[in-house]
Amino acid sequence: MNKITIAIDGHSSCGKSTMAKDLAREIGYVYIDTGAMYRAVTLFCLQNGLIKDEKIETDELRKHMNDISITFQLNPTTGKPDTYLNGICVEDKIRTLEVSSKVSYVAALDFVREAMVDLQRLMGEAKGVIMDGRDIGTVVFPNAELKIFVTASDEIRAQRRYDELIAKGEKCNIEDILANIRERDRIDSTRAVSPLRKADDAIVLDNSHMTIPEQKEWLLAQFQRVTAG
Ligand code: DC
Repeated sequence: MNKITIAIDGHSSCGKSTMAKDLAREIGYVYIDTGAMYRAVTLFCLQNGLIKDEKIETDELRKHMNDISITFQLNPTTGKPDTYLNGICVEDKIRTLEVSSKVSYVAALDFVREAMVDLQRLMGEAKGVIMDGRDIGTVVFPNAELKIFVTASDEIRAQRRYDELIAKGEKCNIEDILANIRERDRIDSTRAVSPLRKADDAIVLDNSHMTIPEQKEWLLAQFQRVTAG
């Protein structure tokens, strides 16, 4: 059977990556978390003093883009891909609230997006990929055979992210997380370059009141429908 491209876009913290990873494992596709790539660039900025007083040193970052290498490697323990920045595993470091609070600004820079989109197209050119992000169905792979746009209520998304961070032992409070989610949605949806929007041919999934197994089943059914025809 010919492999297809699956694009999963949507709002922050609505479980896109969990669904995408589960489906990838089930059907033997490669999963690519494009948010992790923007997070890795943000971590690079923080580690190299390129964010000063909340301001990104845009010219400096532009000069350093060629020094940033982002790769993924399957973690045999978790069965999920880990993100590597210049050869170092940064999977935990890119998920902190500090990175979350800066990443939307970094992801709004046109030259950062150009570099990431080039890399994403290269990673997905052989098909058989599930890519999650904000612009996969609209910009990166506009011809993807299956496009899903995921959303959930702000409060439910904040609670899920809170539970995730607490489980990792991070100190946080739910109000800060809710504010961060709303601010990221605002920036992601209103930025000039590739704003978050539903592709015209994407199927909407509001998973506010769905369990993870229910979402998994729903997504598998969509995949089977598209590949059967
Ligand atoms: O999915 P995430 O929360 O890890 O994404 C982190 C940030 O990166 C988010 O604020 C939006 C941005 N992003 C993007 O602009 N385009 C993508 N394809 C993926 C993520």
